[in-house]
Amino acid sequence: MQIPRLHPDTIEEVKLRADIVDVVSEYVVLRKRGKDFVGLCPFHDEKSPSFTVSQTKQMYYCFGCQAGGNAIKFVMELGKRSFADVVLDLARRYQVPVQTLEPEQRQELQRQLSLREQLYEVLATSAQFYQYALRQSQGQKALQYLQSNRQLKEETIQQFGLGYAPAGWETLYRYLVEDKRLPAQILEKAGLIKPRKEGGGYYDVFRDRLMIPIRDVQGRVIAFGGRTLTDEQPKYLNSPETELFSKGKTLFALDQAKGGISQLDQAVVVEGYFDAIALHAAGINNAVASLGTALSLEQVRLILRYTESKQLVLNFDADKAGTNAAERAIGEIAELAYKGEVQLKVLNLPDGKDADEYLHSHTPEDYAALLKNAPLWLDWQIQQMIQDRDLKQATDFQQVTQQIVKLLKNIANSDTRNYYVSYCAEILSLGDTRLIPLRVENLLTQIAPPAATYSKPVSAKKAWGSSKSPLPTPHSPLPTERSLLEHAEALLLRIYLHCPEQRQLIIAELEERDLQFSLSHHRFLWQQILEISSGNEETKNFVSLPNLISRLQDQFLELDSEMTLIAHLFHVDEKNQKEILRTPQVVQAAIACMDLVMLEKRYRHFLELWQQTDPEAEPERYQSYYQAFYAEKIKLQQIDRQRLFSITELL
Ligand code: UTP
Ligand code: MN
Repeated sequence: MQIPRLHPDTIEEVKLRADIVDVVSEYVVLRKRGKDFVGLCPFHDEKSPSFTVSQTKQMYYCFGCQAGGNAIKFVMELGKRSFADVVLDLARRYQVPVQTLEPEQRQELQRQLSLREQLYEVLATSAQFYQYALRQSQGQKALQYLQSNRQLKEETIQQFGLGYAPAGWETLYRYLVEDKRLPAQILEKAGLIKPRKEGGGYYDVFRDRLMIPIRDVQGRVIAFGGRTLTDEQPKYLNSPETELFSKGKTLFALDQAKGGISQLDQAVVVEGYFDAIALHAAGINNAVASLGTALSLEQVRLILRYTESKQLVLNFDADKAGTNAAERAIGEIAELAYKGEVQLKVLNLPDGKDADEYLHSHTPEDYAALLKNAPLWLDWQIQQMIQDRDLKQATDFQQVTQQIVKLLKNIANSDTRNYYVSYCAEILSLGDTRLIPLRVENLLTQIAPPAATYSKPVSAKKAWGSSKSPLPTPHSPLPTERSLLEHAEALLLRIYLHCPEQRQLIIAELEERDLQFSLSHHRFLWQQILEISSGNEETKNFVSLPNLISRLQDQFLELDSEMTLIAHLFHVDEKNQKEILRTPQVVQAAIACMDLVMLEKRYRHFLELWQQTDPEAEPERYQSYYQAFYAEKIKLQQIDRQRLFSITELL
């Protein structure tokens, strides 16, 4: 078929509806960074992302290859397709009615709609039909239910496109198939009608129900939830799985919430349709609802696309079924949480209320306050374990200890695990601090494989001194820490070497936080730098020392073995070039990273010293180690984890 000439209105509408982030996301994995999204550029080969997408500007731009443009340009470039072809395609995907300059071409286009597109159309038309019926006399009681029982404003009813499926057996069927001439097979495939067992014909699936359209991320109707207005079972009848709708891959209200989620950098997941609706009506617009099933990995990934700090709050009922609902709902994402890939929090509202019920008698601010104080999932689990238990009783104590051990074993990240070991040890000590080391030890032996040994701490003085090489590393960092540190320290050194204007900042930051380079080859290089600088009489201000690199290289000619580990720092390749260009953010990120690793190291160091001290023999030393590790622990707790997520991304 010849490509039709499109009406300018159609082109404009497509530009409005086809959100650049959605369009690009189909081809590129995007991650939120600040206001924008970044990913690997699809137009050239790269290993670190320089491709940015701005939602506010509705534009993409690649810092690597300078490709850039709007959503239409993106699809054109990617598929080497013509303008009209792409606009048509986007119009179908975003349900923009296509108008051509030559009317006779419309029919031809219509015939070309694929099954999916026909399904979208049928569902959109049904949603309109239900909305219309809500405003007729037959929909009176449904509308009243929304206004009185649910206390919803007109605005919210419109926003969510709520409607009413009339009580007859084939009202939708007649309207869509007989009046509108839409094919019955398509309605059936959309889950809206079913064939009669006898006598031929079809009947409506949804009858006398309040209709809640379920939409995809782009806002297209893909299914319905229908609530009964009587005692009929089931309370909610949902569309079956169809070509367009899969329960486990959909989140109700995500289309409405995605903006709020990225703005607040946090998502709230509730259980019920009306909980999500009530939250949006109350201005809490980062809420989505799972569809009555356990959260799947896919659903979580879908949400996490919009939050940078990967914060997810589960607000599930804590009703008769107890707290199991939250546990069940966590399902597959437990592992993500144990690995630290999602910051999972749990919110249980007072008196076992759901969000909708709660908001009938409380203000949005009340809810926001509870949200803010929601405990991390791990803390919440521990709370649940000790709730209603009397730890002074041997059986309770044993059972709780077992549960705690099981939980601790699951925590993949060793720092997090260590932190919770001491936290739980405190709980199990029932206020008697002298018991803590014993409890720590007990927990550690129970969670560790039998052969686990703990490295003997080096004396702090020796470890932190700046003696000549060979330089001892204070308390070797854990493997993941080590690569993070390696990277952060190398970055900092490279920037120091290649960007003289950043030297002042780097020195100031290191001094202010009392930070040292931990890896011995880095510490070695740093010492050389300081030595050259201090021996430099003519410019007292070593920061602006010229030729630093060549002087260092001269010095290193004699020191072959050390050289191999640091030689790369004297050169700048394409990737480093980019990192260097992003200073001073990178300096800040690297410093923050070193800071955290140091803090964790000191924490473990003092914890171990403390565990190895005999409180009877050396009570003062024992006390001082306790205070020391406790102080580090508090600092660790206060570290802004949210910021750290972005740091690791930056590095
Ligand atoms: P609930 O039954 O827990 O209650 O369903 P609710 O949302 O508070 O219901 P209201 O307030 O009485 O209307 C939670 C969610 O589970 C799914 C729906 O998505 C519902 O919103 N559900 C529940 C079903 O799919 N079918 C059902 O029969 C019940
Ligand atoms: Mn409810």
